[in-house]
Amino acid sequence: MKFFVDTADIEAIRELNDLGMVDGVTTNPSLILKSGRDILEVTKEICDLVDGPVSAEVVATEADAMIAEGRKLAAIAENIAVKLPLTWDGLKACKVLSGEGFMVNVTLCFSPNQALLAAKAGATFISPFIGRLDDINLDGMDLIADIREIYDNYDFGTQILAASIRTVNHVTEAAKIGADVMTAPPSVIKALAKHPLTDKGLEQFLADWAKTGQKIL
Ligand code: E4P
Repeated sequence: MKFFVDTADIEAIRELNDLGMVDGVTTNPSLILKSGRDILEVTKEICDLVDGPVSAEVVATEADAMIAEGRKLAAIAENIAVKLPLTWDGLKACKVLSGEGFMVNVTLCFSPNQALLAAKAGATFISPFIGRLDDINLDGMDLIADIREIYDNYDFGTQILAASIRTVNHVTEAAKIGADVMTAPPSVIKALAKHPLTDKGLEQFLADWAKTGQKIL
C-alpha cells in the first residue's frame, strides 16, 4: 500500500519523507488555508521535496475553467496530480486532462457509481472519503470494498486512494481490502507506530538494563 500524506505542512512532510514513509502528498483548499501559504509556492516546494504524485486541487466548478486551472497547476512540476471534484464538470475535465497525459485525482467520491464514472473518464486516482461517510453514520469502509470489487471485475487501472482517513483502524481496514493508496494526516501516520505493549515492554527492558549497571556506549 502506498502512503500519501494529507497535508501542506512542509516540515511534517519532510520528517515523514526522510523516513521513507511518503509515496506522495495530497492537498485540498482547506489544507492550503491551514498552511497559510500561497498555493503555487507551497505546492512547488512539496513537489521539489517528494518524488511521488502531489495532488493540487482546482477550485473552478465549470469544466473549461477547471481544465485551465488544472493545466496551470500541472505546470508547477511533473509530479503534480490535478485534483478534481466528482461532479459532471469534474468528469469532463478529467477526461480532457488525463487525455493530455496529466495525472488526475478525482476527489469527494462517496458512492461506487461515482467511482465507476471516474475510472471511465480516465482518472489516475479515485479518492473515496471514509471519515466523512462515518461522520454521517454510514460505513466508509464498505465504499472502499465496493470500489475494489468493481474495479477488479473490469480491470480498471484507476488506483483507489482511500482518503479522509482519521484513525489507525481505517488504515488497517483499507489495507486489508486492498486500497492501492491511503492518504492520512501526519498524526495518523505517526500513530501507526504506537502500541501500549511496545511502551510497556520497553519500560521493563530499560528498568532491567539499569539494574545491570552496564553501558553500551
Ligand atoms: C483527501 O485527498 C482529502 O484531502 C482528505 O483526505 C479529506 O480528509 P477530511 O475528511 O478529514 O477533511
